[in-house]
Amino acid sequence: MHQLNEFDTREALDAALADKVANILSDAVALKGRASIAVSGGSTPKGFFHALSKKDLPWSDITVTLADERWVSIDSDASNTRLVHENLLQNNAINAKFFHLKQGEALTQETLADLNLAAKSALLPLDVLILGMGEDGHTASLFPCSEQIDECLASSTSPLLKVKPTTAPHERISFSFAYLKPSKNTILHISGLNKKAVLEKALSETDRRAMPIRAFLHDPEINTQVYWAE
Ligand code: 6PG
Repeated sequence: MHQLNEFDTREALDAALADKVANILSDAVALKGRASIAVSGGSTPKGFFHALSKKDLPWSDITVTLADERWVSIDSDASNTRLVHENLLQNNAINAKFFHLKQGEALTQETLADLNLAAKSALLPLDVLILGMGEDGHTASLFPCSEQIDECLASSTSPLLKVKPTTAPHERISFSFAYLKPSKNTILHISGLNKKAVLEKALSETDRRAMPIRAFLHDPEINTQVYWAE
């Protein structure tokens, strides 16, 4: 299920989302001494990242990671790791821990196995999951065009999977739906009229393979908070 939160401006959305996420992270650290958040790449979240980076939080007890990553050099313009370091891990948030999805040169089965073990102990279940959405209804790197989509959506699989989309560049590593579903707070952050229309299409039918974001929007056990501004 989902709840739609609409804002008059993207700036107002970014500020409200940063406030909400800061409160969740602060409460999680107070309760259990640590917190974890997975964010998404793309162009949408930069303003939110800047607002969250300025929050006065126990950042050294907070681990930031990505819902997915392109398997490119972290110096590349296409790197989500670079995007997060340049926009979120700044200001107060410079003291946060970062769990690297891009490790080593090749995304081998051994690398995946090591990352899966580390993610289970250091991150999962997430306290906060921030998802984006493409115009094809993909989220994270759960792409409808990829041969891996059935495993990405399966109820029983590994936390992290190698994904090769056919309509988007780069080999990717992505958390699977099965390990994103238990996140304590799931937020879909989108903006613009095009994405609003994609959201309405995603809500109008239930085929998750066709639009993977539906796995989060239609699951009765997930209360997906949609944050949208024009
Ligand atoms: C990625 C993201 C991806 C992104 C959507 C939306 O690695 O590209 O994880 O899922 O969130 O494609 O991207 P925009 O915000 O640029 O529309």
